[in-house]
Amino acid sequence: MPGDSLDANPTPEGIKSILFDETTIDQRIKELAEGIEERCGSDGLTIICVLTGALMFAADLARKLDFPVEIDCLRIGSYGNRLNSVSKPKFSAPLKNSIRGKPVLIVDDILDTGHTLSALMSDLEKQNPSSIHSCVLLDKPDRRQVDIEADFVGFTIPDAFVVGYGLDFAEKFRALPYIATLESAQ
Ligand code: XMP
Repeated sequence: MPGDSLDANPTPEGIKSILFDETTIDQRIKELAEGIEERCGSDGLTIICVLTGALMFAADLARKLDFPVEIDCLRIGSYGNRLNSVSKPKFSAPLKNSIRGKPVLIVDDILDTGHTLSALMSDLEKQNPSSIHSCVLLDKPDRRQVDIEADFVGFTIPDAFVVGYGLDFAEKFRALPYIATLESAQ
């Protein structure tokens, strides 16, 4: 019908502005995949996806890697309805398969204060993988409390709460294909 296409996908209420659209995310993930292949080799990799925020990112990244991958998932205590991070993240369940002697790539949505990635690295190191690298879609360096950097970063962003492409606020906005800022702290 005439005019239908104009508002086919209106921005949902609560969204302020789009930071990275679908095409930009897709292109950046291709570049990340190339970098990972170069540095982590192509003999196989165990991707550890940190649920739920990294779900879409890990799925898209895994499909762009041109070598065999295994995928396992971990869940971490979430922000819930809050906008602030937790300093002692809790992992909910052990991995399904052993990572002993295997090259591992942690895939997370955001590196923020650094508590999550730091706790995750020490936990996984105890399980004796052959190597551990980390890849985050977004990095908020201004908020760092722990001295840690990721090996691969999709985009560096300022200190703003973001949603979409797996990221939520109170379980809303996860399925948006883009990454956006919120209108205000809701
Ligand atoms: P830390 O502070 O431990 O936090 O590095 C990492 C986790 O915090 C969540 N996080 C966010 N989630 N929008 C979200 O939806 C955000 O802007 C945001 N900042 C941090 C996220 O789950 C990440 O893995």
